[in-house]
Amino acid sequence: MAVTDVQTPARPRLAALDTLSESQIRAIRAIPRHDAAVPPAIEACRSASIFTADERHALEQAKVFRALPVPVTLSARLPEPGSVLAHDGYGVPLVLTRDKDGQVRAFLNACQHKGSKVVESCEPHMAGRLVCPYHAWTYRLDGQLMGVPRQETFAGLDKSTRPLAQLPCKESGGLIWVILDRHAKADFSSLSDQFAADFEAMEIPTAHVYGYKRFDLKANWKLVLEPFLEGYHVQRLHAQSIGDMFADVPNVYDRFGRHTRQISGKMNFSPDLLEGEVKNIHDIVTHAYLAFPSTVVVTSPYYISVMIIMPTGTTSSKVDYFMLTRGPPDNPKAESLYARSYELILKVFGTEDFRAAEISQEGLNSGALDTVVYGGLEHAIPEFYEILEAAFV
Ligand code: FES
Ligand SMILES: [Fe+2]
Repeated sequence: MAVTDVQTPARPRLAALDTLSESQIRAIRAIPRHDAAVPPAIEACRSASIFTADERHALEQAKVFRALPVPVTLSARLPEPGSVLAHDGYGVPLVLTRDKDGQVRAFLNACQHKGSKVVESCEPHMAGRLVCPYHAWTYRLDGQLMGVPRQETFAGLDKSTRPLAQLPCKESGGLIWVILDRHAKADFSSLSDQFAADFEAMEIPTAHVYGYKRFDLKANWKLVLEPFLEGYHVQRLHAQSIGDMFADVPNVYDRFGRHTRQISGKMNFSPDLLEGEVKNIHDIVTHAYLAFPSTVVVTSPYYISVMIIMPTGTTSSKVDYFMLTRGPPDNPKAESLYARSYELILKVFGTEDFRAAEISQEGLNSGALDTVVYGGLEHAIPEFYEILEAAFV
């Protein structure tokens, strides 16, 4: 049976995320048998200073995080016309709105009177307009200034010349991408159509945000990202949690511009399984996407994890973790499964992967290493650094 023809079982009534794009199906069919797969040996190093030097952090900020489109949040966080969300993760105060026609816009969250944040809370909410808490200047969701209390006391004030400062913004595949430089050209040509197609096939744009958690980490953003680019650590770091579900084998790696996709067979994977009845493809394979520069999407059988990793300093970062499900749980079995999954994934990512990033940062800060070294099961990391470094020139 073709992968796309697979039906979810009638019982238990759980919404498996088993819709896939043609490209995903081709990649899954290219996964080798475990016993036939030999990881390559590679020789790859990077200077340890890429994780510790302030100059390197400044370069990444200037050339990547302030110059290129970055995912800021999910479409699912602004689900309907009138949705408003303030966001501060990248160190730039933002407010995002979805207007009555469904268009998402991004603004600097700074009132054009004297700069106060217009929206203080970073909780998503509905609003017909944005009212500054300081003197109540009022903006439409398209950023236009519509109301100034006691306007007669401002000689010559033309409201039409003081809209909120807008940033280039584009919604693609369920992610909201913003260029954090208000003077930048709205160039979104670096986004991947294939990523958008895969994410749409997986229904990310209409997914339900079952869980959201913000992490503040004492680690360079690349140390937080690295474990999501390799399978080498999984059987070791995660030995007590999920390690026995995954095999140490090469995966199918595809690059789409600056973005990369890795699809791997879990411990129970065998190509023959694709010829039989596959109840849920995500039981036997894992998709791991890196939306450049630092957003990770990982599939699990009944949910999708999205992590937006945001540098806040040379050795600090924030992560917005989202657990997406096809819809809200609509029966006790689903509620229990989602609740247990959320608890497990926060433990695995929060206390295992993120802890590994923080203890690596501590070791690197000691100056003990001149270089870090990567093996064949980690090949996607130095390849990612080549893509990143190419953006510096
Ligand atoms: S700073 Fe916003 S109304 Fe005064
Ligand atoms: Fe991990």
